[in-house]
Amino acid sequence: MATVDSLRTHLIDELIDLLDAETQLTDTLPTLAHAATSKALQAAFQKHLKETRGHVTRLNQALRALGEQPSSKTCKAMKGLLEEGNSMMKKTVAGSLRDAVMITAAQKAEHYEMASYGTARTYATVLGEKAVARLLAQTLKEEKGADQALTRIAEEGINQEAAEEWHSQQDDSLLMRTAEWAGSTAGYASREVSRGLRAAVSTLRLPQIRSAKSAAGSQRPSANTRRRSAAKKR
Ligand SMILES: [Fe+2]
Repeated sequence: MATVDSLRTHLIDELIDLLDAETQLTDTLPTLAHAATSKALQAAFQKHLKETRGHVTRLNQALRALGEQPSSKTCKAMKGLLEEGNSMMKKTVAGSLRDAVMITAAQKAEHYEMASYGTARTYATVLGEKAVARLLAQTLKEEKGADQALTRIAEEGINQEAAEEWHSQQDDSLLMRTAEWAGSTAGYASREVSRGLRAAVSTLRLPQIRSAKSAAGSQRPSANTRRRSAAKKR
C-alpha cells in the first residue's frame, strides 16, 4: 500500500504490519521456549506459539474480509524489539536472569501487539467492519492473556530467583573482599609486630651494650693514670 489516505487504508496498513509482526514472532517463539529454564515459562512460550499461528490466520481472514490481499511489509518495530531481546539474551547465561530477560523482551512485544490490535479493533468498529473487529478482539484477548501469564510466571518465582542470584553474587563478592582485607591486614599486623619486636630488642640491648662498654672502660686505666704509674716506676 503506497499511501494512507483514510482510516480504512490505515487499518489495512496496520493489519499488514501486524501480519509481519506475527510471522516474526512465530519464528522467534520456538527459540525462546528452547532457551527457557523455567518449565512454566517454556510452556507459556509454546502455548503462545500456537496462539500466534492462529493470529496469522485471523489477520489473513480480516484482510480478505476487507477485500485486501496480504502484501509484503516488514514490521520494523517488531524487528527492533526482537533484535534487542535477542541481543540481551546473548549477554546472559542460562538461568533465572535469562528467563527474566526473555520475559522483558516478550512482554515488550506483547504490549506492542496489544496497542496495535486495540487500535485496529476500534478502527474496524467505527468503520462498521464488525466481523473484522470481532477477529481482532479475539486476538487482543489472547495477547492480554499471554501478557498476564508472563507477569504471573515472573512474579511467582523467576523475579525472586533472579534477585536471589544477584544477592548471592553480592555476598560472594563481599566475602572475597573481606578475605582479601583480612589477609592484607594480617600481613600488615604481622610486619608491624616484627618491626616492634626488633625495635624492642634493640632498645633493650642498647643499655646493656652501653653499660658493658662503660664497665670495660672503668677497668682500663686512664691515660693520666697510666702516665703517673710509668713515672713512679722510673
Ligand atoms: Fe500475536
